Amino acid sequence: MVWDLPTRLFHWSFVASIIGAYVSGENDATAAHEYFGLAAFGLLVFRLIWGFIGHETARFSSFIKPLGLIVGYLVALVKRTAPHYAGHNPAGGLAVIALLSIMAAMAVTGLWTGDDILYEGPLTAWAPELFADWAPMMGNWHEELHIVVIPIVALHVLAIIVHRLWLREKLVSRMISGRDFEADTPSPIDTRRTRLGLVLLAVCLAGSLSLSLLTPSY
Ligand code: HEM
Ligand code: HEM
Repeated sequence: MVWDLPTRLFHWSFVASIIGAYVSGENDATAAHEYFGLAAFGLLVFRLIWGFIGHETARFSSFIKPLGLIVGYLVALVKRTAPHYAGHNPAGGLAVIALLSIMAAMAVTGLWTGDDILYEGPLTAWAPELFADWAPMMGNWHEELHIVVIPIVALHVLAIIVHRLWLREKLVSRMISGRDFEADTPSPIDTRRTRLGLVLLAVCLAGSLSLSLLTPSY
């Protein structure tokens, strides 16, 4: 197994929540947007914790690599000699951090974003006192940042295609099944840890979705 079940469930539900949030956000479908955005937020909280307590390949420590290794990997990629990794490769690890950070910035700023008409974000009443214009500032960032969402996702999908065509690595099927037939030493899976991950995923999602109860109604 390369990817444990909680990491795979995280990935594909995250894809659905980001696509849902983007489409509903662009189409002013505020009620649906709140649920998709909050689901993305909960999934991100799960991924943050799982990055410390998950199985080996899911841990940040296994895929955050020094710059030298990242550059070395990219050079090898161009020469078509890049080694196969049972987990994220050094450049992929950096891309994962970028993807997670941008989506986290979107999800967090969304908590204070309103539509200037009938909707205020769930945490609008809890703005830090230090910043007078906290909610409008978060709303501005939400609007400014959304333009990087499509480019970073496009880059991610392009990278997966390059791996398939250039290095002949089948990364999508292993993100679905968790199995990697190209890796020599599959990482062991601990059933209890997997169960813990599934419970954590459910708790994070339930907690984040229930933030919608705080949204002011007019
Ligand atoms: C909204 C769109 C998407 C987002 C936000 C996204 C985000 C991510 C993130 C955060 C990871 C890291 C997984 C982890 O360690 O937890 C990842 C990995 C991955 N994603 Fe996506 N993803 C998206 C769409 C897709 C699509 C459409 C595909 C399939 C074509 C895909 C295939 C993969 C694969 C294969 C990996 C594992 C890469 C590896 O083996 O190193 N993703 N994605
Ligand atoms: C990763 C998660 C999220 C993504 C990708 C996302 C994406 C977007 C996008 C693309 C827009 C349209 C921006 C524009 O065209 O100006 C938008 C607007 C909006 N988002 Fe989000 N969003 C996310 C999370 C949230 C959350 C958690 C909330 C609140 C609970 C939220 C509240 C809003 C509101 C109220 C608007 C409308 C702003 C306006 O009409 O001026 N978003 N979002």
